[in-house]
Amino acid sequence: MRVTGDQILGIDVGGSGVKGALVDISEGELLTKRYKVRTLRPATPPSIVSQIQHIIDYHEWEGLVGVGFPAVIDNGIVHSASNIHKDWIETDIMTLLNDSEHHDIYVVNDADAAGLAEIHFGAGKGKTGKILLLTIGTGIGSALFLDGNLVTNTELGHLYLKGQRKVAEKYVSNAAREREELDWKDWAKRFDEYLMHVNALFYPDLIILGGGISKHFEKYGKYFTLQEKIVPAQLKNNAGIVGAALFAETVSNPIHF
Ligand code: BGC
Repeated sequence: MRVTGDQILGIDVGGSGVKGALVDISEGELLTKRYKVRTLRPATPPSIVSQIQHIIDYHEWEGLVGVGFPAVIDNGIVHSASNIHKDWIETDIMTLLNDSEHHDIYVVNDADAAGLAEIHFGAGKGKTGKILLLTIGTGIGSALFLDGNLVTNTELGHLYLKGQRKVAEKYVSNAAREREELDWKDWAKRFDEYLMHVNALFYPDLIILGGGISKHFEKYGKYFTLQEKIVPAQLKNNAGIVGAALFAETVSNPIHF
């Protein structure tokens, strides 16, 4: 299907699933139901590339594609691998994805993608100042904006909390909550310590919480110390897909934004 106008295929590669949908980037809305496949393990370059291609083929899509990917991405090169296979490190993901059939695929860090969506269409829309989006999933991703401009590839899930030997995301992610069977209150108290640490280092004006558990915000938001500046993502778990599509539009047509 080749549809012109403001339609772009957005794909979000996560720790548990690879999801895609057609996005109307002028409204920030999904035009099709989310199509999801379970992330293959080990999440090596060939397995993830084949899943991304499967999602493109499923949509019979020939237009622009934006992919949110859970790693540091600089000019199409993968520079980290926390929840994916280490073979990804220093891989040129743009070249892997753009073959003779596909040549319009752009890749961005997954949290940066979600942040772009929330800044343009969601909880950060029209707001100035320092805005931090944290995605809570298999890991913790971050996207920092200053007056609407993205500071790319921040990795605030990899801070160390006092007394811990592993990076913060290993203790406070949704995967940790599920693994340790924490109830919302216990997990929220743990996450609160993380939020206080991030706040002390960056002092954002607004903190937006994204990822799958943003839809349960009312169950844990009340336990946070900084309640007045913490809000859930408005696009919920679709922010990553919408933001990936927005990113593809931005880089392929920089004068648009
Ligand atoms: C990765 C980030 C990513 C986050 C959320 C972290 O482990 O290092 O790049 O944004 O997980 O997927």
